[in-house]
Amino acid sequence: MYKAAIITLSDKGAAGLRRDDSGPAAAKLLQKSGEYIIEETFLIPDDPERLKSLLIELCDEKGADLILTSGGTGFSPRDMTPEATLAVADRNAPGIAEYMRARSSEITPRAVLSRGVSVIRGQTLIINLPGSPKAVCENLGFILPVLGHGLDILKGAAGECAR
Ligand code: MTE
Repeated sequence: MYKAAIITLSDKGAAGLRRDDSGPAAAKLLQKSGEYIIEETFLIPDDPERLKSLLIELCDEKGADLILTSGGTGFSPRDMTPEATLAVADRNAPGIAEYMRARSSEITPRAVLSRGVSVIRGQTLIINLPGSPKAVCENLGFILPVLGHGLDILKGAAGECAR
């Protein structure tokens, strides 16, 4: 079982002006897969400094295997999730974000407006999902089948892929 954390970025949500349905949607899908324990969930404003320090704490101190963020990936001036994520990254893992956008664009061309990234910090995989519960379910649904194998390799549990 992998340790997962979920962070929802929403100014309105964090101010209590909007219910967060996206974090719970991500948690439900992860739990349903049977591969993850949701250690913690967070609802914070679109504040890149706050996100950066939370990501660092979850990766370096709490040993999260997977961190999913939801929201703040669009074009609004307050959407800084990808920048905060890149700022704490050691390595890029672009295929995950590329695949999510490619598959999502079959559902809505607006999928290309998500600037979300997927990266590695230490032994933690961090993936940005868009903000709506619909987009969370769609994007996570696309990548869940391959995440486990990626985490196995990241954590050293799978040395080589079958050829
Ligand atoms: N991806 C999927 N699969 N389904 C969606 O409905 N919405 C898009 C995109 N990605 C969408 C999606 C829209 S409309 C936007 S503006 C961007 O995600 C950014 O969303 P965010 O600002 O909430 O992160």
